[in-house]
Amino acid sequence: MANDDLNFDVAYFIILFDMAILLIMQVLSRLGYNSVTEKDHLLKQITDEISRRKSLEKDGEERKKYLLKHYKPLNAGIYNLQENFLDVSFIKLVNAARNLNFKQTLQFLDVISEEKQLYGFPVFTRSLCNELLKELDNYQESSLPKGRPNSMNRHGVLLDELGFHDSFSLLLRKNYLNPLAQVLFPSWRGSELDSHKIFTVGYNINEDLQLGYHYDNSEITLNVCLGKSFEGGELYFGDMKTVPIDKSTCMLVPHKIGYGIFHRGQQLHGALPITKGERYNLIIWLRSSSVRNNMCPMCNSTPTLSPATGYGDGFTLTEENSVQICNMTGIFK
Ligand SMILES: [Fe+2]
Repeated sequence: MANDDLNFDVAYFIILFDMAILLIMQVLSRLGYNSVTEKDHLLKQITDEISRRKSLEKDGEERKKYLLKHYKPLNAGIYNLQENFLDVSFIKLVNAARNLNFKQTLQFLDVISEEKQLYGFPVFTRSLCNELLKELDNYQESSLPKGRPNSMNRHGVLLDELGFHDSFSLLLRKNYLNPLAQVLFPSWRGSELDSHKIFTVGYNINEDLQLGYHYDNSEITLNVCLGKSFEGGELYFGDMKTVPIDKSTCMLVPHKIGYGIFHRGQQLHGALPITKGERYNLIIWLRSSSVRNNMCPMCNSTPTLSPATGYGDGFTLTEENSVQICNMTGIFK
């Protein structure tokens, strides 16, 4: 690139950035943040968050390499998914789904809401949940670097970075969740879920209590409660994000340890505050490039992409180089 081009790009970026800041200041004033200190404080939070998201990919890759070298698992056995980690009824459920029989599959799960397409079923054994919790504690108590799964929870763990990738999350997706999604969510191309993001979220009575109303960067989500001991914190589900909020109805869904809720990612949902103890959930966002390549689920536009490592955000509009992140969605991670 010629120097003149570079200078023009830099100048153009600065102008755009200044315009964005001006716009943000106007919005803050309209929201009632009038004092200079209040505005500065909020502006700093926003600019810090923008820089964090810009380096998310690179930081994640570096952390993954570092953890592979320096993290000593407490229980290396749980990183390789075995059938005995799974609840017996979950295996029966997946076998029914493999026959591509919707009615038969429904016999092995709880239809929490037919209208909202919300399904529940036991996934992991208690023993696996306990071992996972011990592993998470071991990592959290270490001085090793930690990423955040998203901006909405400060105490989660990115399980792929910790090593739960090919031999755990990939097997879980391909061998168990794909057949299930194929039967339960055909209109979301459940049979074509070709990437995922796996992480935990943590809530503690003294720290993060709840999760605001949101939709996921996924086509389909599985949310499994791991424990520990807690009260409150029920999930609530509204309608798809396209339904106006004032026309939306919500329903509460309690957590059960080892039990998963399978739902469409674009369905609005949140978690009420816990009132006692601490709770951890394992979440897997399942993505289908055949859906999201047409329209980014976070910015609702044709994706404009940047190169990424690993699965990125699950886009595969690629020629020679892999391009997998929608530029517009960086701000929603
Ligand atoms: Fe979510």
